[in-house]
Amino acid sequence: MRWGIIGTANIARSAFLPGLRRAGGVAAAVAGRDAGRTGQYAREHGIERAVTGYLRLIEDPAVDALYIPLPNSLHAEWTIRALEAGKPVLCEKPLCGTLADTERVLAVASDTGTLLWEAFVFPFHAQFSQVTRLLADGAIGELREIQSNFHFNLSRPDNIRLSRELDGGALNDVGCYPVRLALELFGPGYESAWAAAEWGGQDVDTETRGSLGFAGGRRLLLSCSMRRSYDTFTSLQGTGGQIHLSNPFHPGRADRFEVLAAGAEPRSYPAAGDEPSFTAAIRHIQAVLHGEEAPRQLATEVSLPSALALHDLAESAAAARLPSAPHQ
Ligand SMILES: NC(=O)c1ccc[n+]([C@@H]2O[C@H](COP(=O)([O-])OP(=O)(O)OC[C@H]3O[C@@H](n4cnc5c(N)ncnc54)[C@H](OP(=O)(O)O)[C@@H]3O)[C@@H](O)[C@H]2O)c1
Repeated sequence: MRWGIIGTANIARSAFLPGLRRAGGVAAAVAGRDAGRTGQYAREHGIERAVTGYLRLIEDPAVDALYIPLPNSLHAEWTIRALEAGKPVLCEKPLCGTLADTERVLAVASDTGTLLWEAFVFPFHAQFSQVTRLLADGAIGELREIQSNFHFNLSRPDNIRLSRELDGGALNDVGCYPVRLALELFGPGYESAWAAAEWGGQDVDTETRGSLGFAGGRRLLLSCSMRRSYDTFTSLQGTGGQIHLSNPFHPGRADRFEVLAAGAEPRSYPAAGDEPSFTAAIRHIQAVLHGEEAPRQLATEVSLPSALALHDLAESAAAARLPSAPHQ
């Protein structure tokens, strides 16, 4: 499978390319806005060709599938162009920075029938399968609450995540992970949403806490931040115990999850094997495109509920903002 990458992004270098290589895919080309920078990026990261201009890569018949790691506000335009050209797409999360853009993209994916995935890779991990099996087997009784953090410390003031114009902000960047986890575990139909935020950068939420309420009083409590040290601790709280995960989203070798069932000894499991986080998702996409597996986690099936939830949480945070709130 010959992949093209749209944009000389950090995440393509640090996560997609290692995942692709382990999945046996080929990094056929990268497209960038600047010829010199794109050529250097291709040479440094073992990509066969550098192309100037995103459209040229989309139209390139020597590329089978596209990975789109652009700033959030550009996902819609370039994903739509790729889908209309008949190229399957793995678009970075969140699928788009706004609900309206998400709806446009999903409509084009449905109309064209071209396959589209949003790059939440954790549902493809062995850890996720193990945890969902434990929950289904009643290991912690009924799942009532998910407490989930995604914090990290953003150092560079020119980062795309601090730009309102590029649809940055903590909720879009990392709050989307707890949201997607809750929708996977509780199902897509939430009944309430509230959030409050701190604001900074170019008027984006830099730290947000919030909740989604689900039927029967089940709930997600989430905390996301671009102003703290890295932390993805997540607790699944059931009527008969808890499952603690050090990293449900991108587990590495040091990560573990622990089952604390009432009346039983705690059991601890490794969270990940030695594969890069993106490998399982890319392997699945390639198998689908080779006709060897039925597609799972297509954006047309799973991406709208999280876009709705992010929209509702963002609206709630904006409404809760007092005119006197300091800009940090
Ligand atoms: N799934 C994950 O684990 C994960 C992790 C991190 C990030 N992400 C997502 O991946 C996407 C990219 O994040 P990143 O941190 O890798 O971004 P980044 O390093 O800033 O890269 C974005 C690329 O977009 C291109 N670009 C086009 N217009 C731009 C503009 N106006 N401003 C800045 N860049 C522009 C640039 O490439 P050229 O100039 O070469 O065209 C740039 O290299 C985001 O959607 C983010 O949410 C996902």
